[in-house]
Amino acid sequence: MEKLTIRKPDDWHLHLREGVVLKNILKFSSDFFGRAIIMPNTKNPITSIERGVAYKNSICSLLSKTNTFKPLMTIYLTESISNDEIKRGFLDNIFFAAKLYPANATTNSLYGVKNIKKIYKVFELMQEIGMPLLIHGEVSDPMVDIFDREEVFIDTELNPIIKNFPDLKIVLEHITTSYAVDFVESNNIAATITPHHLHINRNAMFFGGLNSDFYCLPVAKRESNRISLIKAATSGNECFFLGTDSAPHLREWKAFCGCAGIFNSSVALNSYLQVFEEENALEKFEKFASINGPKFHNLPLNNEYITLVREPYEVEEFVDIFDENKKIGAIKPFHAGQTLNWRVKS
Ligand code: NCD
Ligand code: ZN
Repeated sequence: MEKLTIRKPDDWHLHLREGVVLKNILKFSSDFFGRAIIMPNTKNPITSIERGVAYKNSICSLLSKTNTFKPLMTIYLTESISNDEIKRGFLDNIFFAAKLYPANATTNSLYGVKNIKKIYKVFELMQEIGMPLLIHGEVSDPMVDIFDREEVFIDTELNPIIKNFPDLKIVLEHITTSYAVDFVESNNIAATITPHHLHINRNAMFFGGLNSDFYCLPVAKRESNRISLIKAATSGNECFFLGTDSAPHLREWKAFCGCAGIFNSSVALNSYLQVFEEENALEKFEKFASINGPKFHNLPLNNEYITLVREPYEVEEFVDIFDENKKIGAIKPFHAGQTLNWRVKS
C-alpha cells in the first residue's frame, strides 16, 4: 500500500502546556487531529470551571478561523474537589471528562489524589451523569518497584473502582503492560496506547548512557509487554484507541532534571503507521485512530479525511520554540534524526 485515506483521527490524551510552548506546538495537533482530550496537569492544575474556561479560551484563541480542531477539556481531580463543580462543569459542556492522577505518580501530579477511596462520592456522581473517568494507572508508593506500578494499581485501585461503579465510563490511559491489555479486554473499560510504548522497551532509557529522552510515565516495560501492546493496538479491538500522551519538556529541563514525558505530536501519525505497517495491519489503523475512540465516547465520527502517503519522512533533531521571533528553547521530538516511512499528505 502506498497511500491511506482515513477519517481524521482524534487524540484521546494530549498535553498542550501553556504560554509560549502551547503557541509553538498546538499546530502539530490541530493540523492533523479533529479533537483532542487536553490533560489538566498544567503548572497550576485545572481544578475549577474558571480555570477550565480560561485554558480552553487560550487554546482556541490560537486556532485560525478555518481550523475545526476541538479541544476536549478535563478537570483535575483532587481530594477536595466539589461534586457541584464537577456536575456543573460537565453539564455545561466545559469539561468532557475528569482526570485521576494518584498524587506524585507523574509530572505535575502533586495535587493529585492520595487516598482514592476519598473521592468515591465523585465517581458515584460521574457514573450517574455519564462523565468519563480518565486514569493515570500507577500507584505512587515508593516501596512499589517502578516497573510494577501499573499492575499493582490495577489490582489494588482499579479493580475495586470497577466493582463499586460498574457503569462508570473508564479509560485506563497510556497502558504499558500485557497485564493491562488483558485486564482491559476482560472488563468493560477502554485504554489508550501511545506511539512510544509501541516502539521502545525499557532498554531505550539505558542505551548509550542514561537517556531521559525515552523516559516517560508509565515507564516503558520489557519487550514482551511492547509486543502485547502492538497486538492490542493493531487488533482493531474497540476497547483500544489512539492517545499520544505527547508531553513536551524544553531541552534544558529534560537535561536538568530528566523529567518524565516524551514529545511526539509532531510525528505521532507517522510513528503509529510505522508499527501498523510492520504488523501488516494498515487497514486497521482507521479503527484505532479515528473510530474506536468516538464510539466509546458516544461522539460522532469526524467528517473530514486525511491522506497518508508512503514517502520517507525525516524527523528533525529538535523542534525550536520561539517567543515572537526569538528562539527561547527547543524540544526533542520522538524519533529525532530518524527517517520514517509515512507522512501526512499536506
Ligand atoms: C506527562 C507530562 O509530562 O505531563 N508525562 C509523562 O511522562 N507521560 C504526565 C503523564 O501523562 O503522566
Ligand atoms: Zn499524559
